[in-house]
Amino acid sequence: MRSTDVVIIGAGAAGLMCALTAAERGRQVLLVDHANKAGKKILMSGGGRCNFTNMYTDPANFVSKNPHFCKSALARYTPWDFIALVGRHGVPYHEKKLGQLFCDNRSKDILNMLLDECRQAGVDLRLDTSVRQIEKTAAGYLLSTDMGPVASPSLVVATGGLSIPTLGATGFGYEIARQFGHNVLATRAGLVPFTISGQLKELCAELSGTSVDCVVSCNGESFRENILFTHRGLSGPAILQISSFWQPGDAVEINLLPDRDALEWLQGQQAARPNSELKTLLGELFTKKMAALLADRWFASKPMKQYTPAELRDIADKLGAWQVVPAGTEGYRTAEVTLGGVDTREVSSKTMESLKSPGLYFVGEVLDVSGHLGGYNFQWAWASGHAAAHFV
Ligand code: FDA
Repeated sequence: MRSTDVVIIGAGAAGLMCALTAAERGRQVLLVDHANKAGKKILMSGGGRCNFTNMYTDPANFVSKNPHFCKSALARYTPWDFIALVGRHGVPYHEKKLGQLFCDNRSKDILNMLLDECRQAGVDLRLDTSVRQIEKTAAGYLLSTDMGPVASPSLVVATGGLSIPTLGATGFGYEIARQFGHNVLATRAGLVPFTISGQLKELCAELSGTSVDCVVSCNGESFRENILFTHRGLSGPAILQISSFWQPGDAVEINLLPDRDALEWLQGQQAARPNSELKTLLGELFTKKMAALLADRWFASKPMKQYTPAELRDIADKLGAWQVVPAGTEGYRTAEVTLGGVDTREVSSKTMESLKSPGLYFVGEVLDVSGHLGGYNFQWAWASGHAAAHFV
């Protein structure tokens, strides 16, 4: 039987960071993953350029039943720590917008950097390796794996969430949590496009590829960014952000004119350009195609002077507070994160260690901590992996 100081299950963002940091501390680390490649989500992230952190990371950028949990780890490993690591490896990067840092080249620069660090620190990385069973022993944990039995006083669960099963996602981390007496909060897809049904779906399909700057709101949260019409419904950064706050049946409010009061604008146009058609005026704010479709489907376009005050109010409501009830989301197939997960009220925010089973740690997305869109999820993976590494 093989024994080691630490076994980490999952060679994704959090597992790699935890492994390299623990190994740099002199711990003997075995990092196992059932996939044939480490860090598949890192490779796919940020449209292939990995939005690896956000300079303005703040606990307010995370969704969790226990909003205080993330504070300690985020404060001890900040975006600047990761930026320093990236700098030491000479990985070129840039700020795209809103503090979001992306690789200039490819995401594999980040993965190679983490793998280099793991190699230099002596991490034993085993891919294509599944863990079949875990037992608690007097000395720690005994794992039955594809490479035979492995004993270790510390076991770190870094198996991520359920999103994108084709990239190796499984619910194994939740099973381990339950096995050792943990509560797992209901999971659902987050940072995910909405599907739309009925007539609105036709409008979305016809406008597919069109993107518009909007304010999107739901359940007291608002985001200003683009929305994107798709063949299946609505996507784009503002929609992905709000999806993490949406529950089935909720309406999402979309303000298509975020820089102006819609009614004041319409009244002003009616006074200044009474003979202009609404379609023409909307064409100055949106693409011609979108203006024509909105005018035909929503309002019946005519010269501005012909609209009554009540009609203008109705048009203003549509433009400034369009109510959309999504049919659902695209689910884990395309979601960037999984909301919910291991209940953080049973995990130490300082060490990431289970309060139920000493020597067991949870890091990254398997925990009930999900970031907004924009590099926050990787920052959580780095910070939580780093936090646990100092105690395993
Ligand atoms: P992660 O999912 O990275 O790793 C889990 C690992 O565990 C995987 O390697 C998996 O194979 C392994 N595993 C699972 N089950 C196992 C089992 N039973 N046995 C052994 N191994 C097992 N975030 C961000 O900040 N910026 C971005 O640009 C993006 N972009 C992005 C794009 C796409 C398409 C997705 C799906 C997600 C993002 N994200 C993101 C989110 C980000 O990728 C995610 O939050 C982190 O990868 C989570 O890191 P973890 O290490 O917790 O899980």
